[in-house]
Amino acid sequence: MAVSRVDGRDKVTGQARYAAEHPAAHPADPLLYGVVVSGAVTKGRIASIDAASALAVPGVVDVITHENRPRLRSFDLFYKDMTAPGGSPFRPLYDDKIHSSGQPVALVVADTFEAARHGASLVHIAYEVEEHQTSLLQNMEHSHKPSRLKAGYTPPPEPKGFADEMWDKAVVRIEGEYYSGVEHHNPLEMFASTVVRGDDGHLTIYDKTQSSQNSRWYVSHVFGLSKDKVTVRNPYVGGAFGSGLRPQYQLALAVMAALKLERSVRVVLTRQQMFSFGHRPETIQRVRLGARPDGTLTSIIHEALAETSRNEDYVEVVVNWSGQLYACEHIRLGYKLVALDRFSPMDMRAPGAAHGVHALEVAMDELSYELKMDPLALRLKNYADIDPTDGLPYSTKELRACYEQGAQRFGWRQRPLEARAMREGHELIGWGMATGMWDAMQMFARASAVLHANGNLVVSSAATDIGTGTYTAMCIIAADAMGMPLERVRFQLGDSTLPVAPVEGGSSHVATVGSAVQGVCDKLKKSLFKLARKMPDSPFAKVRIEDVDFVAGGLRLRAQPVHIVPLQAILASDGAERLEEKYMMLPNMLKQQKYLRATHSAVFVEVRVDEAFGTVRVTRVVSAIAAGRIINAKAARSQIVGGVVWGIGQALHEETQSDDRLGRFMNHNLGEYHVSVNADIHDIDVLFVEEDDRIVSRLGAKGVGEIGQVGVAAAVCNAIYHATGRRVRSTPMTPDKVM
Ligand code: MOS
Repeated sequence: MAVSRVDGRDKVTGQARYAAEHPAAHPADPLLYGVVVSGAVTKGRIASIDAASALAVPGVVDVITHENRPRLRSFDLFYKDMTAPGGSPFRPLYDDKIHSSGQPVALVVADTFEAARHGASLVHIAYEVEEHQTSLLQNMEHSHKPSRLKAGYTPPPEPKGFADEMWDKAVVRIEGEYYSGVEHHNPLEMFASTVVRGDDGHLTIYDKTQSSQNSRWYVSHVFGLSKDKVTVRNPYVGGAFGSGLRPQYQLALAVMAALKLERSVRVVLTRQQMFSFGHRPETIQRVRLGARPDGTLTSIIHEALAETSRNEDYVEVVVNWSGQLYACEHIRLGYKLVALDRFSPMDMRAPGAAHGVHALEVAMDELSYELKMDPLALRLKNYADIDPTDGLPYSTKELRACYEQGAQRFGWRQRPLEARAMREGHELIGWGMATGMWDAMQMFARASAVLHANGNLVVSSAATDIGTGTYTAMCIIAADAMGMPLERVRFQLGDSTLPVAPVEGGSSHVATVGSAVQGVCDKLKKSLFKLARKMPDSPFAKVRIEDVDFVAGGLRLRAQPVHIVPLQAILASDGAERLEEKYMMLPNMLKQQKYLRATHSAVFVEVRVDEAFGTVRVTRVVSAIAAGRIINAKAARSQIVGGVVWGIGQALHEETQSDDRLGRFMNHNLGEYHVSVNADIHDIDVLFVEEDDRIVSRLGAKGVGEIGQVGVAAAVCNAIYHATGRRVRSTPMTPDKVM
């Protein structure tokens, strides 16, 4: 199925409200506006705060700091959200300590946004400065193995075989060190929270988050508010892709102000402030590959060193993919962290894989040239039919079809083996490819479904739609399960009071929430069938559920397909206004853990490199994806196109540069932090190969999203080499590196 998003009309007509767009509830309680004062130093403590000038601004109501904030719970435990890594979470306005550049130090609250912003510029803060360390390269000797892990993170497996000895002895081998700088999230929507206070003190919070229930949990814990005192809503989210997994500090600050002043409050961060709460970590990787002359891999060694903060061990799976992608007897993987005086890094689209698979796939390309072998042939030579690390079968793996169909679509067979073999005018042309891999995860979720007397169906779960198409996918799944037209189905999400759903992350929402939706529809069908059998003169009285079909919003005997009894009629026969079912979907972990569950891709890229300027244009991309059954081909394609665009950003544009003397990210704005724009994007061709995975989910779906980005930058890097003969081992591959 390929349908436009069901929420599209609301979005383009401005009916869809985002976190900072919800109005106050009562004229008697107009919104107050909070503006965050960001700290001016990287490490130290606040010696004194002078808020007098700010408080003198007409309209300014309060300046909230660690000295006068409302009471907070003191233990780290209360600040743990569902996606927190191990360690001590950052606690906004907790005490006088400064841990990282741009840390919030005060919130100026006023009747108008303008007054608050002016007031914020007048808060004078004196600091005692301590020395900081923000350079990964200068602190590499202070590395540690991650000790404080986060739930769901898998450390690298134990070494297999004798990778080092085999690399020493390898007839053909390569060694490469790959560097990736810091990248920051830049979703369209700023982080924002609107806290609307009810008469009884109940807080309804519109928050930009990937999980309303995660933010609800956090607020309850930090402020000691019972569950029924707080509701969090996030019906629309303007992009998040990892930045909204953890509650961000504007949420805590807005709630503080609402509690202290007993008013409704909105806090919106600026684009610059969005560079102060987490980022994709700076990472250095070393990959060594050994092979026989025929291309058979004899050794894979992949080690990574990444930054974290002093207070938490942020971890992501960087190297593990190198033990899962190619058949090899000797594999050693390593992952270490260096703690710096920066805010904790954060998940960002395909965290770990975006750069981990990049390093492996660039190294594979380097090996292919050593071997004088086609890069695709090298990958096929080492194709893994079982998990190379522990011998598990894949739940499904149609990567071979991705390679074949992608290569065919791209015209890979025409590719000259040597670098610098294609040119047109002043442009060198290169073709490169890479493999992508991402987890196929399923978590726990609940859903409810209500069939109304008018025959409309409303399905609910506290899921999230960060813009990726959750509303539409869930409507399709429900309509399909019930045999109803799509227009008759509505899906409710984005409210912490709805049935439990996990954070929308890891490309797992369709397999998770989608399975719960299908499950609740199956229950509803059984109940409807029971009612149908009891109808007067029921044609269903003597048949089994296997003998009927739910179609066109009704029920019919399979043996008499013409006569359809509308679902409304079944409901009416019972005198019921509505029929409701609830369902809890628990993944079958016992079965799932017997398989390696992943999505795969093959990415083929053409670049044109200006020989004089070193500028790179990615003129053609073919991305072939194996991600199980595709629920909505239109939205899935958009996800992959978005991933490819982000991959081009990773390859050519995105990097936040730190001035380590100041310990500060300098290009914290969209003018100087470059993301891909329309002029950077040319042909992107997406194809989904056939795959149906009933182990990952009962829907056969694995989930699409992150897989779209993985491998793209590596394919660009490999194409640049093919065009120029120059290997760029760090991202972004800016003209200075390419020439
Ligand atoms: Mo996922 S890191 O929430 O795109």
